Amino acid sequence: MAQIVKLDGTRQMDFDREMVEQAYDRWAPIYDLVFGGVFSKGRDAAIQATNKIGGRVLEVGVGTGISLPLYSPKLRIFGTDISEAMLKKAKQRVAESGLRNIEGLAVMDAEKLEFPDNSFDVVMAQYVVTAVPNPEVALDEFARVLRPGGELIILTRVSADAGMRRFIEQTLQPVVRRLGFRTAEFAWSRYTKWLADAKSIELVERRLIPPLGHFSLVRFRKVEVAAAA
Ligand SMILES: C[S@@+](CC[C@H](N)C(=O)[O-])C[C@H]1O[C@@H](n2cnc3c(N)ncnc32)[C@H](O)[C@@H]1O
Repeated sequence: MAQIVKLDGTRQMDFDREMVEQAYDRWAPIYDLVFGGVFSKGRDAAIQATNKIGGRVLEVGVGTGISLPLYSPKLRIFGTDISEAMLKKAKQRVAESGLRNIEGLAVMDAEKLEFPDNSFDVVMAQYVVTAVPNPEVALDEFARVLRPGGELIILTRVSADAGMRRFIEQTLQPVVRRLGFRTAEFAWSRYTKWLADAKSIELVERRLIPPLGHFSLVRFRKVEVAAAA
């Protein structure tokens, strides 16, 4: 994890689980108002891809459950999140909308999923990977709980590799971290490096998503890996 070196020479982690949890507990009352519209195109695309696959879905970082009513009623969804306050909103939504395809909603760290290997047909994480302190650990967990043939679908911010956008993202980073976001450190090369190390995962699709094309819908598939002789 990146560290900040303060003027007195001491070091502090730039992003930790407790800080993120507190940030989203604060966001919970106004989250849908602020991010409901702006992220809706990405959500629609991600849910359409999920509905085509069907079966049992894990939505990590389900937040206020804003996506839950969009899934096909034939799917079974389990939602997890690190923030109690966000999950409380999700539970209210499930009750108020009478959703009957939600298997469960539970506080759980994306870096330590409490499910056996190969449990889900789809693992979905919308606008979550950049909020997790150790994204590669979380991606490994997503791959572990996904069944072979199933898809990992993420909506995520992809940072610029160079140029003015990179400069702006680097400048904004210290400001937005307390809000539970990261603007920098997530160039596409970070995902391709993870992919190269993850033996059982292949890339299916990367599609640019509004606003501004700074976000991508990325679909990965888990493949069978032959056991060593
Ligand atoms: C930007 S919000 C996205 C919420 C929702 N997926 C959506 O599309 O609106 C990020 C969510 O990820 C959750 N989150 C952050 N770090 C997490 C972690 N380590 N494990 C599980 N959830 C986490 C936050 O609590 C928050 O609900």
